[in-house]
Amino acid sequence: MNNTILVTGSRGQIGSDLVVELRRRYGNKQVIESSRSAAPNIESLSYEVLDVSDRQRLEEIVKQYQVGTIYHLASLLSAKGEQNPDLCWDVNVNGLKNVLEVAKSHQLKVFWPSSIAVFGPHTPKLDTPQIAVEDPSTMYGITKVTGELLCNYYAQRFGVDVRSLRLPGIISYNTLPGGGTTDFAVEIFYEAIKHGSYTCFVRPDTRLPMMYMPDAIAAILQLMAADEAGIKIRTSYNLTAVSFSAAELVAEIQQHLPDFTCEYAPDFRQAIADSWPSTIDDSSARNDWGWQHKYDLQAIVRDMLSQIKSQKSKVKKI
Ligand code: SER
Repeated sequence: MNNTILVTGSRGQIGSDLVVELRRRYGNKQVIESSRSAAPNIESLSYEVLDVSDRQRLEEIVKQYQVGTIYHLASLLSAKGEQNPDLCWDVNVNGLKNVLEVAKSHQLKVFWPSSIAVFGPHTPKLDTPQIAVEDPSTMYGITKVTGELLCNYYAQRFGVDVRSLRLPGIISYNTLPGGGTTDFAVEIFYEAIKHGSYTCFVRPDTRLPMMYMPDAIAAILQLMAADEAGIKIRTSYNLTAVSFSAAELVAEIQQHLPDFTCEYAPDFRQAIADSWPSTIDDSSARNDWGWQHKYDLQAIVRDMLSQIKSQKSKVKKI
């Protein structure tokens, strides 16, 4: 198998951290970044402009670099998806279909993130099982359910080695998330440090599954490195680390910044958050390929505050 890696959506919240770790493990030349934006000014590293809805361009890049693995991260998140449902479908579903088609033709291995957003109002909210009702109320969730079914179809019908995780809200400090419902759990740190106060767009009792970026990167790479025989789920694995409410997050930040205050002004994202699970049963991931998280709420808050304080000026907006 060719061993060049292509990352789509490489400038996003997960992509920017994943690329750093992939390059650390496999070397700069082995990892090709791509996104819709014009090339960044880093001449020594490989970067291609790619709109994932353009299958021909995707295939050209795969051939040019003899790509063997795609981490397909290009996606619109839940809140942005509600503002532009057509674009959300086009990027999230047609983009994935293109990746799977090219993977089928060129025997590529694929990682694709699904989300807790596949679940909806009729899904059990606590310890949501791997197999549960999926009745999402957002276009984003609909694209993720469709995507999971496409992944399973391409794996079963054509033998494409595609692997996926239902990611919870991801908390990180290198690149801000763009247009998600769980973004409050990232924004709050910047506002706490900068202004000492935050207006949160969900209610204090809103409890959602969350994960720190180092755990998310570890999970993605562990899943991709796992023995193929161990991967029993080809839709997408439930995955979680911690669940906490907005109020519990505030209280934990106040342990470090006692003067920090938070007000609550729920907006349209409250209904999205209310439709998602509070806690997730990820025992299949733990049993099938040994998933274990490292960061709990205390560790996340401690590290986020110290990282943002030391890197304040470097954070990238997407
Ligand atoms: N973090 C994502 C969002 O809020 C969920 O997958 O849209």
